[in-house]
Amino acid sequence: MPTVYIILYSLYHHVYKVAQAVQKGLEAEGVDVKLFQVTETLSDEILSKLHAPDRPNLPIITVDDLTKADAFMFGIPTRFGTFPSQLKSFLDATGALWATGALAGKFAGTFFSTASQHGGQETTAYTFMTYFAHHGINYVPLGFANSHLFDNSEVIGGSAWGAGTVANGDGSREPTVKELEIATTQGENFAKILTAFHRGSKALDSTTDAADAAAAPAATDAQTDDKIEQVNPSTSGATATAGAVGAAAGATAAANAAGTKDTINKASADANDATATSGTDKAANASKTTTPAANSAKPTETASAQPQSKPAAAAQSKPISEKPAAKQEKKKNDCFCM
Ligand SMILES: Cc1cc2nc3c(=O)[nH]c(=O)nc-3n(C[C@H](O)[C@H](O)[C@H](O)COP(=O)(O)O)c2cc1C
Repeated sequence: MPTVYIILYSLYHHVYKVAQAVQKGLEAEGVDVKLFQVTETLSDEILSKLHAPDRPNLPIITVDDLTKADAFMFGIPTRFGTFPSQLKSFLDATGALWATGALAGKFAGTFFSTASQHGGQETTAYTFMTYFAHHGINYVPLGFANSHLFDNSEVIGGSAWGAGTVANGDGSREPTVKELEIATTQGENFAKILTAFHRGSKALDSTTDAADAAAAPAATDAQTDDKIEQVNPSTSGATATAGAVGAAAGATAAANAAGTKDTINKASADANDATATSGTDKAANASKTTTPAANSAKPTETASAQPQSKPAAAAQSKPISEKPAAKQEKKKNDCFCM
């Protein structure tokens, strides 16, 4: 079961209330959820001048906590059309995670609060995106998944970027039922996408392990096969590499078919039909291509294909979040991390 951390800053608790509706949607789809807030950077004097109530009763997120979640949903109150410095301060401390690619492949969503209807919920989302891009985090927008987003009969916060509320300048407006319903829809949709990925990823891992196990004895046979001289060395290297890539691609297709099979909502189910059909064909091919891939490793004994074929398969089969070796190197050399 994937874990989502909802990470927020909420001076007057509007974002916190929207977060609880998002949490409801996530949990309805079977995702583990933990709520956190970021460290306050304003002095008590300033907070008092801002008439800030007590902070939400939530733990403070640490940079290292980020590695423990599969996904994040950020709750963001707008400041001058963008996100508050408290969140920026936290995210600017994630240099070490960036340097090792620790957050790459995770998922994120956003939701908002502004004082006024046109106070900048969308620009807040837009300016927040750079962190996701730089970390390699997959951003999941809300789209127009809830029909309240088309309702112009009253003020309704939220947009394609995520749920939202409109708090008024003095904080007197509370999140409405419609705004909270939008937030719950966002939680549900986010959870469905995350769960589908999580299942597919696990299936991919197990399919790849099986393919590796099947290929290993054949490769060993190849090393002792006394017919090796009969192979044409001029073509063998290319065949070995192509075969290995084919096997890995087939394994990926099989995993996709398996991983998305159980997806819950209708849209995903439709997509699954298409994926499963082509995936099944490819899965069948995968079982055929596994042996040739391993067999074609025979000639690589004599040439460069031996090292080529194995990494080709491995590269295809690595989980997305695996850290590239080059990134690990980078950390030692020129990182601005702490
Ligand atoms: C310094 C400051 C700047 C703000 N800038 C904006 C803004 O650009 N647009 C807007 O609609 N609201 C603005 N607000 C209002 C906040 O967005 C609003 O208080 C917040 O969304 C309420 O959410 P919360 O109760 O979770 O803190 C600003 C508030 C402060 C304190």
